[in-house]
Amino acid sequence: MNKNAKIVDSMLELIGEIPLVRLNRIGDAEGAEILVKPEFLNPSGSIKDRIAKMMIEEAEKSGKLKEGMTIVEATTGNTGTALAFVSAVKGYRFVAYTPTMVANKSRMSIMLAYGCETEAIDIEAYNRKMNVKGGDDSSVHGGHVELMPRQMCFDLEKESDDIWWARQFSSAENVGAHREGTAREILEQTDGKLDAFVGSVGTGGTILGAAQALKAQNPDILIVAVEPAGSPMMGNEENFPMIPGISDGIIPDIFESKLVDRVISISDKEAIEMAHQLAEKEGIFCGISSGANVLASKRIAAELGKGKRVVTVLSDSRDRYLEVEKYTT
Ligand SMILES: Cc1ncc(COP(=O)(O)O)c(C=O)c1O
Repeated sequence: MNKNAKIVDSMLELIGEIPLVRLNRIGDAEGAEILVKPEFLNPSGSIKDRIAKMMIEEAEKSGKLKEGMTIVEATTGNTGTALAFVSAVKGYRFVAYTPTMVANKSRMSIMLAYGCETEAIDIEAYNRKMNVKGGDDSSVHGGHVELMPRQMCFDLEKESDDIWWARQFSSAENVGAHREGTAREILEQTDGKLDAFVGSVGTGGTILGAAQALKAQNPDILIVAVEPAGSPMMGNEENFPMIPGISDGIIPDIFESKLVDRVISISDKEAIEMAHQLAEKEGIFCGISSGANVLASKRIAAELGKGKRVVTVLSDSRDRYLEVEKYTT
């Protein structure tokens, strides 16, 4: 939070306060201006540092998390990396329950490097049962693939007083970190002058937190959710299985609040292509969901036209997709 300081007390102070970057060579001269927030500049390399810090510190304040306890979470990687990072700074044991189909080597290695433990959960059978498209060439939606690992965390927490489940999918701090951090910064950095916000949806924390803050400032700001074409959820409420305890939370809140104005589906191929263009034409080394966000932003920018402004986030870094290029949220 204090990037101008010469000495900070810990890496946690370097989370957030990330400027917006104008796209110069990818934007269309006739379209709206596109500004991106390179959230991969957070210490562990993703936007999830914001929520990991807030979730852990609120749990400490409320007494749910105490010294010596173990933190658990179901995660496709970035929340795992971020919780591992914050746990390392604060001295907690952290175990990440990770669905096999997204547990690529780079993400797992980063988590392990922070000293956390990982448990890979085989979810292929679960996805077949839930009729979720799987396989090497389809996208992976955090909201879907985390359901089975969440059930494991739910059971673990119930069985032991020494375990605290971070529950990112229903955590008020997951939404609050974006409302009070990400979106507050966007409003300050643009003087409130923006016409649309675009963000991909995993737990839904980014889009809901941003929507709450931006619509409170100006209800006319268009809120656009982006999701993997291979694993739709937002576009159709019925695609989201409602299982009390493990799926109620932010996604149902998004449906209910009706703060999201549009949903755009982006395929793996399109998202990957845009991530490559961002590196080659703008020097921005961002991940695949960031490519999806920028492509969706370009479509909105073309609709809005010159003189308008679209803002999006680049949730993580490309270094975690060098082996497996896949649009994961
Ligand atoms: C790379 C990436 N992009 C986008 C998202 C979506 O963020 P949120 O969970 O806030 O919806 C995630 C979440 O895990 C992510 O890891």
